[in-house]
Amino acid sequence: MTRNSTFRLIAATPLIALLAACGGETTDAEAPEPAGDAPAEIAERQDNFEAIGDSFKAIREQLETDAPDFAVIEPAAADINTRLQRLPDLFPEGTSMEAGYDTEALAAIWEDPEGFNEAIQTAVGLSEEMMAAAATGDPEAVGAQVGNLGKNGCKNCHDSFRKDDD
Ligand code: HEC
Repeated sequence: MTRNSTFRLIAATPLIALLAACGGETTDAEAPEPAGDAPAEIAERQDNFEAIGDSFKAIREQLETDAPDFAVIEPAAADINTRLQRLPDLFPEGTSMEAGYDTEALAAIWEDPEGFNEAIQTAVGLSEEMMAAAATGDPEAVGAQVGNLGKNGCKNCHDSFRKDDD
């Protein structure tokens, strides 16, 4: 019995060493190459999102005034809608944060393309509801859509597909 245990220990050692070596090699092969010139789409999508954020803020700021200006709200809502529709073209394969680029776009975008596309389409649909609310000229209707779009459009996508800042 003692002889058997000793034998197993000795026999197992090379196997463990081999597994460790394989594990190491696999990790190296998967490590991202240093990123070359960043694809233009990364800056384009970041500018596009920044503009979306600005338009969204412009709407919220108007709602905080005594007399919300619909000449600001309506074009801002349309701008958000137009820009959200551009998203499918701004995420070429291999432009994730994990690929080594200066971006908050997670690899989950390309691992779950259906989920990502669904998040885009949901947000586009909600931005249409925002446009409809803006067309009524009713600040309360717009306010309701700010909450709806912010939570179920923007945050819904950020939760799964954008790096968490905090
Ligand atoms: C379908 C997914 C998706 C939707 C919908 C979405 N975002 Fe984003 N957002 C992202 C991703 C991914 C990034 C990171 C982009 C990057 O760094 O390359 C981002 C980044 C941003 C940024 C930072 C831009 C920068 O780099 O300066 C802002 C601001 C932003 N989003 C606002 C919004 C707002 C407001 C909405 C809703 C009206 C929204 N987003 C809807 C996925 C989404």
